[in-house]
Amino acid sequence: MAKIPQDIVDRVRDTADIVDVVSQYVDLKHRGANYFGLCPFHGEKTPSFSVAPAKQIYHCFGCSTGGNVFSFLMEYQKVSFPEAVKTLADRYNIPIQYEEGEGGSELFSSLYELHNIAIKLFQDNLFSQRGESALAYLTDRGLTEDILKQFKVGFAMDSWDQLVKQCTGKGFTKSHINQSGLFTQSEKGTFDRFRSRVMFPIFHPSGKPIAFGGRIFGVEDPAKYLNSPETPLYKKSDVFYGLQASRDAIRKTGFAVLVEGYMDFLQLYQAGIHPLVAVSGTAFTQRHALALSRITQKVVLLYDGDNAGGNAAIRAVWVLLKAGLEPTIVRPPGDQDPDDWVRAVGRNDVLSAIESPTSFLDFHLEFHSGKSLEGAERRQYILDLMREIRSIQDGIVRNDLVRILSEKLMVDEHDLVRVMKSQRVNPVQYPDQTDQGDEIPKFTSIADRAQIELLQLLALEEQSTRQYVQENISLALFTTPLLKKVAGFLLDEKLSVESSAIIEYFQDKHERDSVAQILFAETQNIPPEQIVSDCLKILKSMPLKERIQSLRIQIREKESNGDDPQKELDEVIKLQQELNDI
Ligand code: UTP
Ligand code: MN
Repeated sequence: MAKIPQDIVDRVRDTADIVDVVSQYVDLKHRGANYFGLCPFHGEKTPSFSVAPAKQIYHCFGCSTGGNVFSFLMEYQKVSFPEAVKTLADRYNIPIQYEEGEGGSELFSSLYELHNIAIKLFQDNLFSQRGESALAYLTDRGLTEDILKQFKVGFAMDSWDQLVKQCTGKGFTKSHINQSGLFTQSEKGTFDRFRSRVMFPIFHPSGKPIAFGGRIFGVEDPAKYLNSPETPLYKKSDVFYGLQASRDAIRKTGFAVLVEGYMDFLQLYQAGIHPLVAVSGTAFTQRHALALSRITQKVVLLYDGDNAGGNAAIRAVWVLLKAGLEPTIVRPPGDQDPDDWVRAVGRNDVLSAIESPTSFLDFHLEFHSGKSLEGAERRQYILDLMREIRSIQDGIVRNDLVRILSEKLMVDEHDLVRVMKSQRVNPVQYPDQTDQGDEIPKFTSIADRAQIELLQLLALEEQSTRQYVQENISLALFTTPLLKKVAGFLLDEKLSVESSAIIEYFQDKHERDSVAQILFAETQNIPPEQIVSDCLKILKSMPLKERIQSLRIQIREKESNGDDPQKELDEVIKLQQELNDI
């Protein structure tokens, strides 16, 4: 992998402004010395994501994520460090000369570029003679050219190598071609994966293309839609179709309408219903729920009106409830898809249905005719419901569901609770990201706090304070491994690193978050001399106190064994003396 020389990395970091970069994606408001906004890395309603322009770092008081301009882009756009540097270098017009390797052919940027070439080709096809039948199919289904262009819908011709040819000679490596998901390989060579299909590009919320869904038309094919395989860019389980266009609308209206298909999305969007998302090529997963929870808590499910749609909606609702979101349901009449429905009745009827959706339990009871079941069927129905309800973690939601069910099914609430407790729980597996809270070290001991205060002084921009602290403390005082590592950088005079640059020495995300959190803290209005002497007292006395403690235990043991503890007593007295002298 091509390496970007350190001086260029430094130059980009110094030029880029963190407020400028973050505010491209997060609405930031000025408050005091810092800026605040809704954290893009976890769901929240009150802003706890904070950016410190003076230190050029960010830290979220809610989820503890933190870092500098580079780590922000790495995490927000899911790109590597060199790619984050490159993005910012481009933005601030800083030319990059690579030290070695393939001249900038990084994996992610290659993959984006390949997708962009494909999008362009497919759009050219659709709006030329080659795409006549495809365009006719789409317009017959009621989509306008405007919406097709906005969502960059295209057409892959009936050709084995139209895209292959477009991409040859442009310096893409075999490995990048392979990993793009746009091609298939056989002994005979590399071929276009998508042929004779209407192509729906799928974008990351940042607007970068990451995959395609391709629909066959005019002929029967067992695979109505062919989607990109999983690639480094495309992890189906948390990708939504259309989110790049609808995220702001979802934030603004406070809810998201969830549909099953690309067509449903486009048709509703075209009709002016914008707070929308569609899953793409998979069922709704926990990771989808987690991703949605970062934008909104309320989800209105608008799935197909047929039986399959009803069952899929119920499965998705359980996932949403278990992830702590608030799902409700709207069902198109008859067996219609939302796509047919909005075309049939128009925007207003669909919108008013969305504004007064059905509660989940009402939908469930009606869909399964729950109220008219009898005997064994009724029992099984209640058991099945209770098993799902039991694995909802939020006790308030769980109790509400039980109470409402007991009313609707006329079963005693206590009986329901008993049934529920007798059910085995389906354990809820939360994705890695939600576990991170446990792994972020909590620096709660007095010694940790003292070490942190010293680090904060060392990270100050003000040279004289920094120097004073450097002269008066030593690395040996730092006993907590992560804090020692940070101190090592800050005390190394040759490095003379700033807050924001230190972040880059920590490749592990949890460590990075902690370091940003430490460096982020407000500096107190206490003279540094005072802080240093207080902290030194704590840190120097700590090992002495620990030693005294263990000696006392030894002394007690010796006494109870009838041995003479004189040696230990002498040491304690000596240590006490040392303690007093600190
Ligand atoms: P549907 O079968 O409901 O298709 O699948 P649709 O969206 O109504 O499509 P049209 O209206 O017939 O064009 C819903 C979604 O499931 C995925 C796609 O994401 C599709 O949008 N799907 C469906 C596949 O991935 N592969 C398939 O073969 C079918
Ligand atoms: Mn449909």
